[in-house]
Amino acid sequence: MIDQITVDKIINAAQIVEVVSDFVTLRKRGVNYVGLCPFHDERTPSFSVSPAKGICKCFSCGKGGNAVNFVMEHEQLSYYEALKYLARKYHIEVIEKELTPEEIAHKNDRESMLALNKYAQAYFSNILHHSSEGKNVGMSYFHERGFREDIVKKFQLGYSLDQRDSFSVEALSKGYKKEFLTKTGLSIERDDGKIYDRFWGRVMFPVHTLSGNVVAFGGRVLKKDDKTAKYVNSPESEIYHKSNELYGIFFAKQSIVKHDRCFLVEGYTDVISMHQSGVENVVASSGTSLTQGQIRLIHRFTENVTVIYDGDAAGIKASIRGIDMLLEEGLNIKVVLLPPGEDPDSFAKSQNASDFIAYIDAHQTDFIRFKTGLLLEEAGKDPIKRAALIGDLVRSIAIIPNSIIRSVYVKECSVLLDVDEKLLYAEIGKTRQTKQEREAAKPIPVTSLSPTPEEASMAGMPGAASSVAGYANQDEERNIIRYLVRYGEQVLYYVKPDEQSEEVPVTVGQYIMDELARDNLVLEHPLYAKILELFRENASNEGFVSEHFFGQHPDPQVSCLATDLLTDRYVLSKIYSKMSKVEEESDRLIELVPRVIFEYKNKLLLATIKDKMVEMKKANEQNNIERQEELMQEIGNLNVIKSQLAKTLGERIILKL
Ligand code: CTP
Ligand code: MN
Repeated sequence: MIDQITVDKIINAAQIVEVVSDFVTLRKRGVNYVGLCPFHDERTPSFSVSPAKGICKCFSCGKGGNAVNFVMEHEQLSYYEALKYLARKYHIEVIEKELTPEEIAHKNDRESMLALNKYAQAYFSNILHHSSEGKNVGMSYFHERGFREDIVKKFQLGYSLDQRDSFSVEALSKGYKKEFLTKTGLSIERDDGKIYDRFWGRVMFPVHTLSGNVVAFGGRVLKKDDKTAKYVNSPESEIYHKSNELYGIFFAKQSIVKHDRCFLVEGYTDVISMHQSGVENVVASSGTSLTQGQIRLIHRFTENVTVIYDGDAAGIKASIRGIDMLLEEGLNIKVVLLPPGEDPDSFAKSQNASDFIAYIDAHQTDFIRFKTGLLLEEAGKDPIKRAALIGDLVRSIAIIPNSIIRSVYVKECSVLLDVDEKLLYAEIGKTRQTKQEREAAKPIPVTSLSPTPEEASMAGMPGAASSVAGYANQDEERNIIRYLVRYGEQVLYYVKPDEQSEEVPVTVGQYIMDELARDNLVLEHPLYAKILELFRENASNEGFVSEHFFGQHPDPQVSCLATDLLTDRYVLSKIYSKMSKVEEESDRLIELVPRVIFEYKNKLLLATIKDKMVEMKKANEQNNIERQEELMQEIGNLNVIKSQLAKTLGERIILKL
């Protein structure tokens, strides 16, 4: 972890215009800058950068935040990684927090292995580009396959010499330890203690993690040969958990977000060729069926997955199970069959990006329909097979979490299969029930939930908990927090505590805190409550400016919400926009701030009155006269408070304006 002082230093150094300009061409417009939003496709600029506020925001797709948030979103980095990125940009030395000896040992192991893999990648690339065997054998192979030089470089492809130990010998001579050579699986130790290379005489495909570290390699033979496996791959290790990696994700993540769709293919070469043709939102499952971890990885970036299959149907059946898992994760799955004899690799080579995409869009079908067609074809008229088919489809539909989507599929399948919808619902109901029972009986799989170190540092992603739903007064609370964040330190009015004293200012924030405290009210929404608390703790600091404090706050949840609140445009009510002089919101705080407090309190009051009425009805049914009288009294009091509240609001506005 980075210590707080360094974090503050980085945040203070980062200039939003400079940071955004590395990725977006900005033009000055008034006090702000505008450009084309990097987070969605657009032709007219709606991405606005405010140097004064230190934030940016797209007024079309809503993405934005401070410099750290921007880097996180644009580069798809964790909070921690984004800070390191900015530290590099601004030449700030990052001092990491001290770790325990165990943590250090573990970290050192991982880092040694990553460093070795990095070295190995450079070594294999160097051989490919500079040795004669590499050029004559490896590079000619890539050329033969039509891989462009820039793509070979981008994916850091390489070549391993056709000798049993040349890499191991070289790595040892460079001081890399035998322990890590075997731990990464780059080398294999024989019984006699000698070590040999795992990869030799193969073209090399490094496997990158989400953040770009090389954690494994795949080595492909050059010649068709039935005796040796086409690919040799790195074994599982402390840094490589095959089931959590997707080939190509590092190169694809930005494009996946931008297009809000991910193509899923099978092989290394499919990914590479698609990139070469300009389609970059693509990852490969590397020939095995998908795992939960891989699916979650995709889900971080999009909900839409298009699976691209080779023209031959052989592989399709095998991978259908993996696709059922995508459904279960709540993803929208489309399927495309390529023309016979084509795989994504060959198909991408014969098309440019827009033709490729056009083909996909014209031929993709929804997964359930695709599966139905496939199974129907297989079952023919055989009634027993048809019954089995229905059961199979019902299971696929039953695992879809969203009930509306389920019902769409039911309708469709009922037509396709000529089966009554009610019958399908009944079957789905049964399947869902047994599934829920199974889940309930199952202990929570702690291990699969505990994040890897890389994952853990992602934990601070914005949006993770920003959508807390279900607070009754969420909107009213948000309005209050909006004024706190925008104008917290501004003076609302002056009071004279008594005749002799000087007038003292009451700020917007102070007013809000006093009003809540007066009725012992606490905000329910955890993020809003947190912001109020942060205000309470920091507002008296020298030079405190609310919009800056919250907009640049190190907690991405806080800064992202603040950005939203700072950039939402205030819609003038009809009455005011009709007035000749259009007043700014900040000119009308004395009216607006008490109003949001009033709206909030009024809502609470109404809810309380409603509760009392319900209770009253019950008491009435139970003939509990005593309780009825009590309640009558209470409701009466509440109504008095309600009208007083409305009246004081009115008075305050009239008096102070
Ligand atoms: N694979 C593997 N081991 C094998 C065969 C395949 O690990 N013996 C994995 C690789 O990750 C490969 C993927 O399965 O990329 C898909 O296999 P395939 O389509 O046969 O390989 P491609 O990468 O497409 O290679 P090529 O186009 O050169 O045949
Ligand atoms: Mn292939």
